[in-house]
Amino acid sequence: MNPEHPGLEVVTTVAALRKAVAAHRRAGRTVGFVPTMGALHEGHASLVRLAKGGTDVVVASIFVNPLQFGPNEDLARYPRTPEADQRLLAANGCRLLFLPGVEDMYPDGFATRVELGGLTEVLCGKSRPGHFSGVLTVVLKLLNQVAPEIAYFGRKDFQQALVIRRMARDLDLPVKIEVCPIVREEDGLALSSRNRYLEAAERAQAPALRKAILAMDRAFRGGERDVAALLALGHATLARAPLFRLDYLELRDPETLVLRTKAEAGDLVAAAAWIGRARLIDNGLLGRE
Ligand code: PAJ
Repeated sequence: MNPEHPGLEVVTTVAALRKAVAAHRRAGRTVGFVPTMGALHEGHASLVRLAKGGTDVVVASIFVNPLQFGPNEDLARYPRTPEADQRLLAANGCRLLFLPGVEDMYPDGFATRVELGGLTEVLCGKSRPGHFSGVLTVVLKLLNQVAPEIAYFGRKDFQQALVIRRMARDLDLPVKIEVCPIVREEDGLALSSRNRYLEAAERAQAPALRKAILAMDRAFRGGERDVAALLALGHATLARAPLFRLDYLELRDPETLVLRTKAEAGDLVAAAAWIGRARLIDNGLLGRE
């Protein structure tokens, strides 16, 4: 057990993880799994609580996965807050934390990659080549290691959840993938571990990403169906936050990610933009929220 966080067992090797999960299974408990990269916040906490509501034992992992970072991305400075993370997990009902090292996940000679075509070539996949292959590879490993009934992911990373669902379906993984609501700050900014990179002036402008999506949603609800007109509204909103450098703002089919020519209810509006040292993403479903 863990003297500082009673109720939260911490394991660092795959063998110890399997042993701990097997004990829960022998006791007839179902397992819910929440994979993370740490620097945990209320968004992660909400996933843990949903997992606790849906299964008997919640297992979380914290692993900053080098495979999903590009050469010029923030792997080296990705925030690490191990003490606070364990407190948050214990407080929200997580029972088992898997904290593997890079050498455990990717020992010498590791060579296998999960590749998923189509869906990973647009949106974040276009500006972050190799990113989703890195995500899918580590998530498949983690799912094999933990073997949960249900794994929980946030809709904040819409494309990530979509490709993980597709992998689970394509490869017949015996797990249910649950996609959970986005947790936001009061002013609409989606919670993200990367928000702590923001300087005060950047933080003040950061909600514009959400506001752009909401402006498009309002116009859609008012009857606008023309994609160019909707996107123009989003761009106009973002123009009022000049610290942003837009990566993309797009309207796509939420299942196939094919670009829309005419907007329909439930369509995905997805946005990504850099502000200061942070790259932020957000999304909405037209007419649905
Ligand atoms: P990380 O960014 O730590 O996110 C872990 C999980 O928390 C993801 O499913 C993400 O969508 C969810 N999440 C993040 N912010 C959220 C918010 N504001 N509201 C709701 N859920 C939120 O995503 C990853 O890690 C990694 O790619 C991982 C899947 C762990 C693979 O390495």
